[in-house]
Amino acid sequence: MKIDTGRDLQRDHAGRLRHLLTLEGLTRDELNGLLDFAQFYVRHPGDMAARDGSLAGRTVANLFFEPSTRTRVSFELAAKRLGADVVNLDMQSSSRVKGETVLDTIYTLQAMHVDVFVMRDSEPGVPAFVAAHVQPHVSVLNAGEAHVSHPTQGLLDMLTIRQRKGADFGSLSVAIVGDIRHSRVARSSGTALQTLGVGELRLVSPASLLPGEDEFPGARRYSSLEDGLRGADVIMTLRIQKERMDTSQIPDVDAFLREWGITERTITIAHQDAIVLHPGPMNRGVEITSEVADGPQSAVQQQVRNGVAVRMAVLATIVRNVQLRNVEAGRRVG
Ligand code: NCD
Repeated sequence: MKIDTGRDLQRDHAGRLRHLLTLEGLTRDELNGLLDFAQFYVRHPGDMAARDGSLAGRTVANLFFEPSTRTRVSFELAAKRLGADVVNLDMQSSSRVKGETVLDTIYTLQAMHVDVFVMRDSEPGVPAFVAAHVQPHVSVLNAGEAHVSHPTQGLLDMLTIRQRKGADFGSLSVAIVGDIRHSRVARSSGTALQTLGVGELRLVSPASLLPGEDEFPGARRYSSLEDGLRGADVIMTLRIQKERMDTSQIPDVDAFLREWGITERTITIAHQDAIVLHPGPMNRGVEITSEVADGPQSAVQQQVRNGVAVRMAVLATIVRNVQLRNVEAGRRVG
């Protein structure tokens, strides 16, 4: 069954973003617009975090049906720094476990004037399903959907690459390395890279962890780390997602590090100024060593910092679009 990624559903009648369910279908200008807006919220480490009142009077609910620390906290800080009220619901211990449907939970919270739902779920299609059922002024932001998509992570990866390598994606060779098959991050970042016109997109992974042939159109597939890393400007490492594998797929940790790990040795095969990304949480000593993760070519902390800025930009954008719709509706009445 083809999953409804919500690509058409995420726009309002005027074509503006109402939800953020997927990066599929967003134009290059739209992506760049969101990245420019996010850049406006980026501050140097040690400076005070950016803050404004774009979400004053709004309420954001974080609904995480899968474990998460960094993404949940990142959305929470983003919403609070824009002046919103924020509620965090630990969905792993509540409603669905008690038999309540997702929609009942959503309707209950909507009745309490929640304006934005930030959702993470292990089942494909849930964010789009919820988006199809909420009231017109309510928005859904996808914070990680099964293996399918993780749009704000894709955006923060693009912002990080742009800051370190410049906005000319056409001159870049990007290697996504490791467990691509199970990675929603790889899918969203891959979509964004293609839309931004990346020079070369490489998928570097053992055959068992490669995505389907119909995915990542235009990308080149490599079955050896050396070939895949040669001359790359950006190395995107991924977590081995054991929770999405059956036991036969789970690789031996030592063998994986030896053959596919980003280490002080293998990183030298890439361009000498190559940067290394990882969405976290990292399995140190499996897909990446500590020397690389904490080394000068690592952009991991910058990704985390950019994550809050990207989420602020997305929240402010969708709330501004709600306000625009209200103004237009007012004009029609008046
Ligand atoms: C990723 C996720 O949960 O999709 N992490 C994140 O959002 N920071 C990647 C992962 O879990 O491997």
